[in-house]
Amino acid sequence: MKTEAGALLSSLRIDRGSDRKISIQLYMGLRDIILSGGATPGDRLPASRTLAREVGVSRTTVIDALDRLIAEGLLESRVGSGTYVSTALANQPRTQLAPQSGPAPAIEPRLSHATTHAARHFAPRSWLPHRSQTFITALPALDAFPMAHWARLSARHWRGSRDEIMGYGHPLGHAGLRRAIASHLNAGRGIKCDPEQIFIVAGAQQAFSLISSVLLNPGDHVWFENPGAIGARNALVASGADLVPVDIDENGLVVTDGLQKAPHFRLAFVTPSHQQPLGHVMSLSRRLQLLQAAENADAMIVEDDYDGEFYYGNQPQPPLKSIDSQGRVLYVGTFSKSLFPSLRLGFILSPPGLVDTFEKVTASWLSGVPTATQAIVAEFMEEGQFSTHIRLMRRTYKARHDALLEASSTMKHLIRVQSTASGFHTVGYLDDASDENRLVKRAAEENIIVAPLNRYCLSPISRKGLVLGFGGTNPDEIRRGVAILKTVAESDRNNWSA
Ligand SMILES: Cc1ncc(COP(=O)(O)O)c(C=O)c1O
Repeated sequence: MKTEAGALLSSLRIDRGSDRKISIQLYMGLRDIILSGGATPGDRLPASRTLAREVGVSRTTVIDALDRLIAEGLLESRVGSGTYVSTALANQPRTQLAPQSGPAPAIEPRLSHATTHAARHFAPRSWLPHRSQTFITALPALDAFPMAHWARLSARHWRGSRDEIMGYGHPLGHAGLRRAIASHLNAGRGIKCDPEQIFIVAGAQQAFSLISSVLLNPGDHVWFENPGAIGARNALVASGADLVPVDIDENGLVVTDGLQKAPHFRLAFVTPSHQQPLGHVMSLSRRLQLLQAAENADAMIVEDDYDGEFYYGNQPQPPLKSIDSQGRVLYVGTFSKSLFPSLRLGFILSPPGLVDTFEKVTASWLSGVPTATQAIVAEFMEEGQFSTHIRLMRRTYKARHDALLEASSTMKHLIRVQSTASGFHTVGYLDDASDENRLVKRAAEENIIVAPLNRYCLSPISRKGLVLGFGGTNPDEIRRGVAILKTVAESDRNNWSA
């Protein structure tokens, strides 16, 4: 590029209609010419006055662009001589310097051992639902949420002190929310605990990942309910642990099966209040057996109490945590079911022996839960709205459960829907000749969303069934849904037995 401006400028494009400042466009244009080899290290640039005239901009604009390129080391200024393409670029391969245009080349970055291992063991998970549909699982009754009150509370929060609402939140969680959760657990769930034991996280899934990183080493044996929760399973697998599928019966986790398969387990993951997905409540004797097994193996237990608030049977079992005299149970709670899932809000109730560790770990990174969300939920709890909402929802879910059981009696020769005592999903069992996946697909064609039991299995089980959510479906829709499901199951049976 001698000093002729023409050759250099022929490829410079300035768009005067663009929102981007002219000096920035000039800087980017020159940078691209240099990086793509359009100018060679040591080449002298035209004088700033010449550049300004040729491009039709002020000299100040040109100097501004050149100064940036000098600061980035792409140009160098030699006193009394002019501005040159930096000679240091001579040693840099141009392919590394050239800006990307078009798609990036398809290199395959090397993955960590943990991710390579986990990718082979992750359970396939369809996206969690964001809107209610008949029998969809995981969503609470969004139609029954007290939105007007929530909106007023939120607006009041945002009118508060700016320091309170705009600064960084506390890494262990909002103090008011930690207090409110501890007092709810003491009063409502019979769990004795202090606010200092509560750590706020972005949903139960993050709790499981955090617990895995604190307690598990690759290869550790983890007892896992089979069938069991898909999200928790993936979080535990990501740590490189070996998940041991443990049988479930109507009393919950079959502890003797776990002992037979992996007596030296490091952790057990359980959903005692409402087994995910079968819906059984773990019996007291099984709870005691599990605590004893953990003591013998010096293991810890994760109690995932995702929907235990909604017990509508006769005799609720106390949470495992409330009878944990040794401090082996990490109790995980979520607001995804008791309020709504987009909050991304959950907590870990740590046993005393892990409080220091969780303090250190959570204080070293900042929780992803917005302070505003935490403060609003804290107030919702403190003013008693949370308990009121839970009470109302218990009634709503009981009504929806009963509607499902009643309507489904007409299809019990095809799908036997099991009664449950809490939560808002249950299982409809199929006979051995049925094909779960085919039924799920056919039902989806009719906008009925059910999940096959096999999706929850770490290792295959003999029972076949469909998981039916009833929380987000009102009784009329439930009756309509059962009628459609019955027709689908009948026509499937006729087609395949013909
Ligand atoms: C067994 C189980 N635990 C916990 C949760 C809640 O997870 P999160 O709090 O991350 O929404 C779910 C969600 O569906 C679940 O199925």
